[in-house]
Amino acid sequence: MKPTTTLFLAAALSLAATGAMAQAGRNLLPQQGGEALYKGICQDCHMPDGRGAEGAGHYPALAKNPKLEEPGYPLSVVVSGLKSMPAFGGALDDQQVADVVNYIRTHFGNAYKNPVKPEDVKTAR
Ligand code: HEC
Repeated sequence: MKPTTTLFLAAALSLAATGAMAQAGRNLLPQQGGEALYKGICQDCHMPDGRGAEGAGHYPALAKNPKLEEPGYPLSVVVSGLKSMPAFGGALDDQQVADVVNYIRTHFGNAYKNPVKPEDVKTAR
């Protein structure tokens, strides 16, 4: 991960962790649209081609990943985090979460139907 990105992410996540943030302040991360969000946030760990990485940690591949078929799973991972994957629910608004989840479910060899809607994100929070 690039140091600037890491710092920015750390700042955004610690702000989010204060819990003082209202829904209106949620889109702390500026990228809009699934591709920009993926490139700005996710690819540092999951790699630009979604293949994941092994090294300092295990970063699972999102490419051709059957666990993305059920939309509720990636949705909950992005909103709430999973072990060493940070939660992004505090830093992204409903539309941003839906966009990035739909992006990974329809790229990198995945072609899953039934896209996530912003209302689904509200329910998952
Ligand atoms: C700081 C590194 C990091 C970033 C940034 C990150 N992830 Fe992850 N992600 C992980 C790790 C580590 C795991 C594995 C967690 C575990 O099971 O221990 C993971 C797991 C996942 C999983 C579950 C995969 C599976 O097969 O179970 C999904 C889906 C996912 N990430 C999507 C995303 C998306 C979308 C983004 C961008 C919004 C993102 N991640 C950003 C580190 C990261």
